[in-house]
Amino acid sequence: MREKYSLNLGWYFKPSFNAVEKVAPALDTYEPVNLPHTVKELSYNCFSHAETAMLSSYVRKLTLPESAAGKRAILEFMGVMARYELYVNGTFIAEHRGGYSRSRVDITKYLHEGENLLFMLVDSTENDEIPPFGKTIDYMCFGGIYRDVNLLVTDAAYIEDVMFRYDLNGTTAELYPEIRLNNAGEAFDGDVTVTIRDAEGTPVKQYAARVPFGAGFSNPELARVSAENLTLWDTEHPYLYTVDVELRRGTHIEDTVTLKTGFRTVLAAPDGFYLNGEKLKLVGLDRHQSYPYAGYALPERVQAADADVLRNYLHVNTVRTSHYLQSEGFLSRCDEVGLLVFSEIPGWGYIGGEKFKETSHQDIRDMITTQYNHPSIFIWSIRINESADDDEFYLKSNEIAHSLDKSRPTTGVRCIKNSHLLEDVYAFNDFIHMTREVKHYRELVLTNQQSVTGLTHRVPYIVTEYSGHVYPVKPFDGEERQLRQAQIHARVQNANMERNDAMGAIGWCAFDYQTHGDYGSGDKICYHGVMDIFRMPKYAAYVYRSQVDPAKEIVFEPCTLLARGENDDNKPVPFMVCTNCDYVEVELYGKSIGNFFPSLSYCSLPHPPIMVDNDPGHWSDIWTGGTIIGYYKGKEVARKTYSCDAHLDDLVVEIDDHELYNTVVDSTRVTARFVDQEGNLLPYYNGVLTIETSNNLEIVGPATVAVVGGRIGFWVKTKPGCGEGTGTITVRALNTQIPAKTLTVALHEDPTIRCL
Ligand code: GAL
Repeated sequence: MREKYSLNLGWYFKPSFNAVEKVAPALDTYEPVNLPHTVKELSYNCFSHAETAMLSSYVRKLTLPESAAGKRAILEFMGVMARYELYVNGTFIAEHRGGYSRSRVDITKYLHEGENLLFMLVDSTENDEIPPFGKTIDYMCFGGIYRDVNLLVTDAAYIEDVMFRYDLNGTTAELYPEIRLNNAGEAFDGDVTVTIRDAEGTPVKQYAARVPFGAGFSNPELARVSAENLTLWDTEHPYLYTVDVELRRGTHIEDTVTLKTGFRTVLAAPDGFYLNGEKLKLVGLDRHQSYPYAGYALPERVQAADADVLRNYLHVNTVRTSHYLQSEGFLSRCDEVGLLVFSEIPGWGYIGGEKFKETSHQDIRDMITTQYNHPSIFIWSIRINESADDDEFYLKSNEIAHSLDKSRPTTGVRCIKNSHLLEDVYAFNDFIHMTREVKHYRELVLTNQQSVTGLTHRVPYIVTEYSGHVYPVKPFDGEERQLRQAQIHARVQNANMERNDAMGAIGWCAFDYQTHGDYGSGDKICYHGVMDIFRMPKYAAYVYRSQVDPAKEIVFEPCTLLARGENDDNKPVPFMVCTNCDYVEVELYGKSIGNFFPSLSYCSLPHPPIMVDNDPGHWSDIWTGGTIIGYYKGKEVARKTYSCDAHLDDLVVEIDDHELYNTVVDSTRVTARFVDQEGNLLPYYNGVLTIETSNNLEIVGPATVAVVGGRIGFWVKTKPGCGEGTGTITVRALNTQIPAKTLTVALHEDPTIRCL
């Protein structure tokens, strides 16, 4: 039976490579590091996009536990950017290409008793044989061993993956799990026991089957068995089951795998998307998995937190993993919060030669075999994003995907019209509003699907990007620009709701991200997000957030500073309120100027924003500030007051998690906002913060930062082995009277992980 160990701690790193070191690395010239790790910590912006492209070296000592005697030793890499060569005790063992896929290497026969040496050459140059490289792409891939590394100690046969296949009819599933076995021994008849437990851990189904396994790799499916009265998974009730798969050879337990899954059906039809037979309009955002300073290299807790932001703060029901396989931690959290996932292979606008194509096909296999059990994933995106047609290549891609998964549709994201539809769904990045919407031609917010596909009949169709580069907005941009971006998102989603020829629309994008100099605002950041890179909202975020049912949560987000001089003509209007209240009342100049109701320009949204556009005052009247009040079911439920003398009053510092693990590198986000005496953000206050932590914590990035748009986020991480108890984070606002703010975090052991 397997034992799993984390190898995240105790690495040595050097941002260079010298062939002699493969055999005998001079460890005193290396820096001790833990994983996840980036080859180069970048500045917040204005870095060179070439800084992380390099050959680097990672070394780790490995002494197997006693229990490993006579067993197999499998190294498991969850993500290394972008190519690695692995040497064990000086001998070359394996190469892996592709920075987003899991890889496993059997190193058993290269190990000896006592201390062994793992050496990795990590290549983060932009090699045009490896997707997504080949053309300058609009994002950064960074470099390094940026996800977990594990050691699996197994018997002769171990289960690489279980693809928990089922057909669902009502609440009854016909189960036929596929057991993907890696067997270094002889062929044998194995006894497999499958136990399904409900969310409380109670077994609801258990059955056994005898299965013949071959030598080497074999992947039999178990004979069909039904499970009845299942609770289905959906976006509102993301019900998950735990499945234990135990493999016995005689009386010996050879291996066990525990996975989580959910039961649901997905259907892509020409008139829309169906989840469990019910039509559901997809409203989503694209996501890059990068963060300031560390790039991709923040632990799973941080990756998973983005799923919470998307589902529980922005209230969207869909995310696209643009443009690559995202982490297990993120996908598992999508399962838990009910966020549908459009899962995509790496690629961006370029199809390379044979080696590139082989890697792309391998990415498809890896994506589907490793992500198969996530109920949140509703589609496989198997083309290189926005690439030209290449029928031979893509017919094969589609065949690979369908042979591995018949339960989900395939698609590929295009920016071209009349592309050959080889997959099940035509996905299109529709930026038509780029030229038209900004100029107020409302009818061209989105394109009719047949004008895109060039077909005379309708096919399953989805919009996978809009907005983005059309209208970048920085968190410190003025109110008018912020408002315009919000209106573009509102207008596109309004059109998304109205049409009946599309599954939905996914906007570009959730969060600002680092990029190459060919894109972005000259500072290597694409400000395309509805939130900034710290996951703090711009006005466009409120368009999504306010669509939630008010019975669940009242959202009341006036998109205004209510500062007269911020707008043209020294007027506090027009402004927009993103809310699910029935109406708002506005008081200006000391009196009510009336009630305002959801705008008819967005009347297909569940909760259209409210436009406030009349101003009874004269530009030179004495300004008295104002109040905006939200009403729901006849009652006041929200109120925001704006002072005529807004001044710096406080720094609000918050933390996402109050408990962290200290036996692995764990991390959480801290946010800081400068606010006035009414608690309103002061986006133009350009304050400077210093951050200090106790010795058991570490700041990711610099300890002195200037706020961006009156606010900033940063991440702290734990330092394994550096003390227990409580960690503290103290934030000081320089040159102010604001008292220092100290947050505390409880630190304790991660009971689920064994480190070696
Ligand atoms: C798309 C591309 C995205 C991003 C976006 C910006 O064409 O697929 O990766 O660059 O444009 O709006």
